[in-house]
Amino acid sequence: MRILQAASEAVPFAKTGGLADVAGSLSAKLASLGHDVFLFLPLYHEARSWAGKARRTLTIDVPFGPETRSLSVALVEKENLRVAFVDDSAFFDRPGVYGENGVDYGDNDRRFSLFCRAVLEAAKALEFAPEVVHAHDWQAGLLPILLKRLYAGDPVLGAAHSVFTVHNMAYQGLFPAAAVQLSGLGLKELSPSSLEFYGKASFLKAGLVFADRLTTVSPNYAREIQESSETGCGMEGILRQRSHVLSGILNGLDVDYWNPEKDPNLPKPYGAATVFQGGKAAAKKALRQECGLKVDSGLPLIGIVSRLDRQKGLDIAIAALERRLGGFELAVLGSGDPALAVSIRQYASRHPSRIYFREGFDESFAHRLYAASDIFLMPSRFEPCGLGQMIAMRYGAVVVGSRVGGLADTVFEADSGIGNGFLAEPGDIGSLERALDRALEAYHGPMWPKLVEHGMRTDFSWDRSARAYVDLYENLVGAVVGPKA
Ligand code: ADP
Ligand code: GLC
Repeated sequence: MRILQAASEAVPFAKTGGLADVAGSLSAKLASLGHDVFLFLPLYHEARSWAGKARRTLTIDVPFGPETRSLSVALVEKENLRVAFVDDSAFFDRPGVYGENGVDYGDNDRRFSLFCRAVLEAAKALEFAPEVVHAHDWQAGLLPILLKRLYAGDPVLGAAHSVFTVHNMAYQGLFPAAAVQLSGLGLKELSPSSLEFYGKASFLKAGLVFADRLTTVSPNYAREIQESSETGCGMEGILRQRSHVLSGILNGLDVDYWNPEKDPNLPKPYGAATVFQGGKAAAKKALRQECGLKVDSGLPLIGIVSRLDRQKGLDIAIAALERRLGGFELAVLGSGDPALAVSIRQYASRHPSRIYFREGFDESFAHRLYAASDIFLMPSRFEPCGLGQMIAMRYGAVVVGSRVGGLADTVFEADSGIGNGFLAEPGDIGSLERALDRALEAYHGPMWPKLVEHGMRTDFSWDRSARAYVDLYENLVGAVVGPKA
């Protein structure tokens, strides 16, 4: 099947969070299953070295508001996956993906309108006629409406069906009305039945209203976002109207990449069968040394790897941890909201021998921290899916998380038959304190090795979820189409 994937970030090319893991590893998995997959990405500064490896570069003209922009498209092949980097250096060759120092770029409407239009123009120029265009999050949200409004009769793109996956309802791509016209859409789209949202243009809504199928990244979140204005972020009505085409497909993990048995970032490899034979202990020892953690090593090390955002509940985590300081060491890796960073830095500086904070985005340190952690803390207020908890389990850390979204689909209370972690009610400090107490107590008890092993042996691979996407595509296209010959 010919599948076009479009996203604003994807591993290993550009990453700020879980969207990149999913867009990159889902595309690669589908390609490895034999499908003809073309992944489209903006050529950000951090991805420029990939364009240097391009097998072919072409130039395309993209209509953009009153102007026509000349863009280059660099084609790269990574195993079976074809990747097209859309290059307009004025828009994309910048230090950040969406912004810098916690502040979004002021022209993100222009950047991602251009991206969406350029994806379709590039597909045409390449004569890549997808059966399915799969767009991810608001940055690619204009693709479904552009296909319907501007490309319905196009010989290359006219037959394409669209799938839109929401990775986070909280990011809606809301811009002044003029944003609509940049991509070539008419002002008539500024109506409630189209992409207008309280007087503005919403790229997210464009995807939700116009895609042939909608998905989100866990079954639980698919249900939650239809329930209330808080969880649906104001879009719950549209989601309910379209619930017959909406489904939740749990994210998978690239289990080859996130694999403590062959992770080059770790001092000594380990797997589920060998986790207690020194590999995990070596990772913990090295990290404690690196971070200057000095209190009794008989205590569990709690790890956090997170975007710094209200969503992730780190303010609640600090409040809950403050009252049980004697029972753990803590290492936090995070970037995002500067105010949250200040409060975590202050917290760490009050207790330097037991709490460490590294501010920034650091892929290699993230691997070391997952491996070093005994407990992984993820007290999100909401969580569409969450990959952090899956990675942590794979590296033998036991999760303390909130009973919400994809966390509730993947973490189960320790005392249940399928237990692998500890759950708290989202946004509730008291409940988090109790979950932490249960975890800290269990750490010193006989159940711990079983919990660790159980998490490590859980299958988070793409096998099942990639199949679910293929079923969805096939069902949409209306026939069972096998992989290319
Ligand atoms: P979200 O996408 O909401 O940020 P997920 O749990 O789905 O949350 O995915 C987060 C991904 O980003 C994981 O791969 C995690 O390891 C990574 N990550 C988050 N913050 C950092 C950071 N500061 N440095 C390195 N990796 C990070
Ligand atoms: C979003 C969500 C996260 C999810 C990720 C990948 O960033 O916040 O829960 O895992 O997308 O789908």
